[in-house]
Amino acid sequence: MCPLLKVENVHKRYGKEEVLKGISLELERGETKVVIGPSGTGKSTLLRCINQLTPPDQGSVWLEDVEVTHARSSINKLRAQMGFVFQSFNLFSHLTSLGNVRIGPIKVKRMKKGTATCLAMEELERVGLSDKADAYPAQLSGGQQQRVSIARALAMAPKLILFDEPTSALDPELIGEVLEVMIALAKDGMTMLVVSHEMGFARSVADEIIFMEHGVIVEQGTPQQMFAAPNQKRTGEFLHKIDELYGETG
Ligand SMILES: Nc1ncnc2c1ncn2[C@@H]1O[C@H](COP(=O)(O)OP(=O)(O)O)[C@@H](O)[C@H]1O
Ligand SMILES: [Mg+2]
Repeated sequence: MCPLLKVENVHKRYGKEEVLKGISLELERGETKVVIGPSGTGKSTLLRCINQLTPPDQGSVWLEDVEVTHARSSINKLRAQMGFVFQSFNLFSHLTSLGNVRIGPIKVKRMKKGTATCLAMEELERVGLSDKADAYPAQLSGGQQQRVSIARALAMAPKLILFDEPTSALDPELIGEVLEVMIALAKDGMTMLVVSHEMGFARSVADEIIFMEHGVIVEQGTPQQMFAAPNQKRTGEFLHKIDELYGETG
C-alpha cells in the first residue's frame, strides 16, 4: 500500500543557506505526526515545500500516487487536496466566517452557492462556531478565527491538513479550544502533519513526533519513546526546553 504522503530527500536553499538538507518522511492515511524543532530550523519551509508554495530544489513529494513536485499544471488541484492552517489565520477580513469557509468550494471546486453554504455551515458546526457564521474576523477572538481557518480547510475535503504552529499566535487561554478541535479531527481519522510545540496535543494524538534541527530530521519516534528514552541527546534537551516554555499549556 502506498502512503498518503511521501516526502523524499527534499532539499531547499535560500542563497548560501541550505535550509532543508534532505528531509524524508511518510504519512499513512489517518496518521497525525507532529514536527518540533528550534526556530529557523526549516519547519515552515518543509510544509511549504510539501504543497509547493515553495518548490524544493531537489527531492520529491508524492500525494498518493501523484508526484506533487512534477505536477505543474495540476498543482492547484493538488494543493486543494492539502489543507493549510497558518499561525496567523490568514482569513479574508472582508468576508464573514461563512464567506471565508465557502469561498474555496465556490471558487476552486465550482460548487453552487447554496450547496457550498450548507457545507460551510456543517464545517462551522464541526468547529463549534455555527453561531458565528455572520461574524467578520475582526469580531472574533484569535481562537475563533483559527477555528474558522480549520473549518475553511475542512470545507475543501482535503486528503490531509498541514498545520504551521496553529496555536502560537494565541493567548494561552485560547489555545485549548483550538487544540480540542484538532484532537477531535485526529481522532476522526484526518491525516495531519502539525508543526507545534504543544506536547499535550502530541501525547494525546500523535502517532509520531519528528524532531528537526538545522534542516535535518534528528530523530523521530512515538511520543512515548521520544519522552521516555530519546536516542539522541539533543532530542532530550529540546523536549526538556519545550516543557519549560510550553509545559503549563501542553
Ligand atoms: N523566503 C525566504 N527567503 C529567504 N530565507 C528564508 C525564506 N523563508 C525562510 N527563510 C530562512 O530559512 C530558514 C528556515 O526558516 P523556517 O522554515 O521559517 O524555519 P522554522 O519554521 O523552523 O522557524 C531561516 O533561516 C529563514 O530565515
Ligand atoms: Mg515556522
